[in-house]
Amino acid sequence: MMIECRELTKTYLVEKKPVFAVDNVNLSISRGEFVVILGHSGSGKTTLLSLIGGLTTPDRGQVLVDGEENWQQSDNDLSTMRNSRIGFIFQFASLIPTLTVMENILLPMTFSLNPAGNRAMAREILAEVGLADRENSFPSQLSGGQQRRVAIARSFINQPDIILADEPTGDLDEETERDILDLFSRYNAKGTTFVVVTHNSNLAATQKGARVFSMSQGVLSAQAA
Ligand SMILES: Nc1ncnc2c1ncn2[C@@H]1O[C@H](COP(=O)(O)OP(=O)(O)OP(=O)(O)O)[C@@H](O)[C@H]1O
Ligand SMILES: [Mg+2]
Repeated sequence: MMIECRELTKTYLVEKKPVFAVDNVNLSISRGEFVVILGHSGSGKTTLLSLIGGLTTPDRGQVLVDGEENWQQSDNDLSTMRNSRIGFIFQFASLIPTLTVMENILLPMTFSLNPAGNRAMAREILAEVGLADRENSFPSQLSGGQQRRVAIARSFINQPDIILADEPTGDLDEETERDILDLFSRYNAKGTTFVVVTHNSNLAATQKGARVFSMSQGVLSAQAA
């Protein structure tokens, strides 16, 4: 078992009332799976992803990655785990405005010892997301969808075991969305595990072999195939 969420719960106080953003979620994900979690705005998708990725602490429950509990590790081990094994695609493209496309993509590789190899790989991935000619552009020179594709490229650079993707095709037209989902499928076929959260039910319908869940008011439930 690669990822296991046990009774995972996160509440926020909103105007003095508790909101169950993630409510007692139990979820097991095996290596190589493609999981899609569908839910309306505010249903807890982003919160669940950040709990799985160790970016948010749960109020209750656990997240185990390969049997190791996220929050029992030292900060250092947790960061190393995140950096080397998990690729994040954030809901809002999180590029650094003062860095070029190439520099943004290479950010997760800051401590790597093979800069030339990394550049070559970054170029390959940039071509895969259809931005081969934009490596020297700055984020402000790109459209929203192009920025999102850079963020997707960045999530692949350290060859993570698992990609956590938050509304990855949000600003993309249908054709580009298809390209990105095909890219996900290719990486998935090579063994990368995917957890994709979205409100786009199309995405679940078109992703072959995906295990689909729905989320509502923090509660996760399996969807019939
Ligand atoms: N930092 C926070 N402080 C207070 N409330 C929060 C915080 N983050 C999330 N929430 C609340 O938790 C609930 C779930 O939010 P979350 O961002 O996980 O939803 P979502 O499914 O990702 O929505 P969207 O599709 O709009 O991105 C919402 O009611 C939201 O207001
Ligand atoms: Mg969200």
